[in-house]
Order: sequence, then structure tokens, then C-alpha cells
Amino acid sequence: MQTVLSGSRPTGLFHLGNYFGAIANYVKMQDDFDNCYFFIADYHSFTTHTDPLVLPQHVKRAMATYLACGLDPNKASVYVQSDVPEIPELYLLLAMFANKGELEKCTTFKEKARQKGQTLNAGLLTYPVLMAADILVHRAHKVPVGKDQMQHLEMARNFAQRFNHHYDTDFLVLPEAFSYTEELIKILSLDGTGSKMSKSDNNVNNAVFLTDTDEAILKKLKKATADAGPQEPNAQKSDAVQGLFNLMQLVSKPETLAEFEAAYNDCSIRYGDLKVQLGKDMVDYVGPIRDKIAELESKPSYLKEVAAAGAETARKSGRETLDGVREIMGINYFA
Ligand code: TRP
Repeated sequence: MQTVLSGSRPTGLFHLGNYFGAIANYVKMQDDFDNCYFFIADYHSFTTHTDPLVLPQHVKRAMATYLACGLDPNKASVYVQSDVPEIPELYLLLAMFANKGELEKCTTFKEKARQKGQTLNAGLLTYPVLMAADILVHRAHKVPVGKDQMQHLEMARNFAQRFNHHYDTDFLVLPEAFSYTEELIKILSLDGTGSKMSKSDNNVNNAVFLTDTDEAILKKLKKATADAGPQEPNAQKSDAVQGLFNLMQLVSKPETLAEFEAAYNDCSIRYGDLKVQLGKDMVDYVGPIRDKIAELESKPSYLKEVAAAGAETARKSGRETLDGVREIMGINYFA
């Protein structure tokens, strides 16, 4: 049996990149694999000090978003990291298998270190250890993550391998990255620069969020950057125009996409028409998800129930791993 695990930090704003790059794949995986865990990494978000008044809203929104996008508590355990004390317990033990040097060499850490200098907290340094604990605690085989998390995943494999080697066991599973397609369709910023859609972009108009109103979605797409138009038949697309076509591929009917592709290739395309069509199709796609998020957010007791059930399953699985790890390490003194 293959175990699947993934998660994301509760940042409050989920955009199309999070949806098509992550959540939509989780939803697919819960049908294709029997043992799935999807969680909200709230402990990870403390590395960048959170506001106690805002954090609960973000966690609630993350849970509502997971469910609104189609995660089904009957098919997968959906839980909050801090509800599962087995994760920090394993984190402590795994920390003994992480080298300070390799943690300092981690790209995400180096970036933060450059920005923050000496005020950096130790939680940031050990971020990959906590992430490894998230994964190894369920002995997960497959972890759907994007490119930006590959190094962290590699570190999780290293910690597990070192543990296994030291104790001459194969108890911890070495997790592998998982993706349905070789090349993910890139969700690009609407500003046409070719960068990825991002929630930390200082212009909110460059991303479509799952909680955007119809008006906001239409306006953002109408204002999206295009280019001067194809100068010759079958011209290569600029980043700006490719980004719009990528979105169309994800939310519009295949016929619609084909029609605009043909118009682009014979230079008869009018970007205004493309943006209006894409806007409509985007509203049809995102609108129901947004409404479902709102509906679920108005039912905190339901969300609490789902989180409790998810945590129970996750704790059971986590406990089994911890029992094994403690036994292997000799933490069993008075037997
Ligand atoms: N670090 C991941 C991110 O920033 C979130 C995360 C935490 C995660 N623990 C994980 C992802 C375990 C996959 C598996 O997106």
C-alpha cells in the first residue's frame, strides 16, 4: 500500500497556482491511493511570527479551502499539524540526524538568512527537519510537491536514510516526489513578466485568488498584460500571452482554446475577446469554489469535526511510527 502526504502553510490566500499546482492534485490522488494525508502546516508558519488574531482565520480558511476544492474526509485524513503531537516528537529525534552544515546550505534558509541576518530564529534553520517529520511520521512513499520543495524532500530522504543506516533498519520509508505530469502547466502572474503567480506579490491584481468576487476576477483578467499581437503566422508566444493561454487550457472548453489558438496562429486574434472569454470561464470555474469556501467558513463546528477526525487518524498512524522509532532507538528502559 502506498501512502501519500502533502501539506501547505496556512497563509490565508490561495490562488490559482496553489489550486492547479497542489490542491487539484491532492483531490485526484485521494481517488488513486488508499492511504492519503493532507494537512495544514501551522507550526511551519510560526517561523515567520504570526498574529494570534489572524492565524485562526487562516487555518480555518485553509481547511475550508481544502474541502471546498474537493478533499473528502472519507477518502483522506485532513488535519492540522499542531493537533498531532507525534510530529514534534519525531522532529526532536530526527534533529539528531540533521547536520548543521546541510541545514545552513539549504536554499530557502540561505535566502532568509540574507534578508534577516542574525535575527533569524532557529525554527527557520530546522524547517526541513520539521517537514521531514511531517512526512516520515506516516512513512509516506509519495509526496506531491512543486520544484521549490524538492530540496526539502531530498533532506527528508537523507535524514531517514541516516537513521536507517545508523540502526541498521529499513523502518523509515524514503519518500519520493510525485507528479501526475512531467511538466506542470505554469500558472503565471497576470503582469506578463513570466514569473509565477504568487500571494506575496505586492500587487494583488497579478493573481486570481479562490476567494475573489466575480467582479474582481473579470477586472483582473481584463487588465492582464498581453503584448502587441502576433507579427507573423504561428509566432512563438510571449510570456504574457502564454500565461493567458495556459489559464484558458485549465478553465475553458477545449473548443474555446482551439478557437483562440487558431486565431493566434493566423494573426486574427483580438486579445480583448480572449480576456473576456477567459474572464467568463474563470468566473464559472472559481465562483462555485469561492461560494463553497464561504459556506464552509460559516460552519466552524463542521470544520472542527473534520479536523478532529483527521487528527485522530493521523495520530494513530504517527503513534505506530513513533513506537517503532523509540523501540529501534532503545527508548524502552524499564521493560
Ligand atoms: N514547506 C511546504 C511549503 O512551504 C509546506 C510543507 C510543510 C510540506 N510540511 C510539508 C509539504 C510536508 C509537503 C510535505 O509549501
